[in-house]
Amino acid sequence: MSSEKDIHKFIENKRADPFQFGSRYLEEGDNVFEFNAWDHVEPDDEFKAFAEVQYEKQRAAPVSDFDQNRFNNDPAKWWNLFYKNNTDNFFKDRKWLQQEFPVLAEVTKKDAGPQVVLEVGAGAGNTAFPLIRNNENEQLKVHACDFSKYAVQVMRESDQYNPKYMVADVWDAAAVPDENGDSLPPGLTEGSVDVIILIFIFSALNPNQWDLALRNIYRLLKPGGQVLFRDYGRGDLAQVRFKKGRYMQENFYVRGDGTRVYFFDHDELVQMWGRWTPEKGLQVDLENPLSESQLAEGNTSFEVKHLGADRRLIVNRSSKLKMYRCWMQGHFRKRGGDVASAENAE
Ligand SMILES: C[S@@+](CC[C@H](N)C(=O)[O-])C[C@H]1O[C@@H](n2cnc3c(N)ncnc32)[C@H](O)[C@@H]1O
Repeated sequence: MSSEKDIHKFIENKRADPFQFGSRYLEEGDNVFEFNAWDHVEPDDEFKAFAEVQYEKQRAAPVSDFDQNRFNNDPAKWWNLFYKNNTDNFFKDRKWLQQEFPVLAEVTKKDAGPQVVLEVGAGAGNTAFPLIRNNENEQLKVHACDFSKYAVQVMRESDQYNPKYMVADVWDAAAVPDENGDSLPPGLTEGSVDVIILIFIFSALNPNQWDLALRNIYRLLKPGGQVLFRDYGRGDLAQVRFKKGRYMQENFYVRGDGTRVYFFDHDELVQMWGRWTPEKGLQVDLENPLSESQLAEGNTSFEVKHLGADRRLIVNRSSKLKMYRCWMQGHFRKRGGDVASAENAE
């Protein structure tokens, strides 16, 4: 691919869709091993066949019921161990945030006024810290919550922790309301949050916790409040390469360190967010998909504003190995509120 073509695609791409990461398209006739990474590449037939064989092997050797209970009963314990072992050096800072989620560029502008952002599953602060570093809004407050007390400790002890703009707290996104109906993070009340960031957190939940998490998110958001989502996509190399003894249920695995990971499908996410209501709860029925117009009708709780797959082919040029990565990225909005100001923030 010539560099001129590359630049042209880059510009076109950036203008067309803020939800697209990259610019290096693989086209017929290109030498796949010419670059280290290509964007928006669908897996080839060889990889798809390899993935199916892998899934069969994974299903044939699932995690025992005893171990499933160990990993599902106290998931925070395994994340605590993770942060004890990895402190703050495991995840990379998410520097692409404002570019990928223009809403975050809006709320950090000087004159954006009071803005409450909640990051759920904030880990070591790799999203919250870049956000406050690039912030010009005196009235921004970022609540960075994680159910691992060690993750929260890592954030609070960081040089970058600035309590003027940020507060880190322990909170379980799938918390069940107590006898007072309380299941929200410290310092936040119902309808008090403008933007909720979910980056690689829903994949850490058991699918049977999605409804509880959606319920808490719905309660926390102001009408018109926004959800920014990024997580693992179905068929990502990280899924395909799981060996035996890691499969818990379809698309849900446990890693060697005891942390759990789910791989999401596009239509499943559309239904998860687009059909959920407080009364009916989660309604994922992939046998009966809803049309775009049915989803847009407005009688559900969240509007799916964008949802796309970010696919990349990473190539090891010396070993001629092709690795297909897939992440899902979404922007959802709690219905109600001032639609015009939400539109401006896109
Ligand atoms: C893969 S890490 C991602 C961390 C961070 N969002 C990032 O992208 O760097 C998942 C995080 O979610 C947290 N987590 C998992 N389940 C959670 C839950 N039910 N409530 C709150 N945090 C949770 C874990 O402790 C971990 O820090």
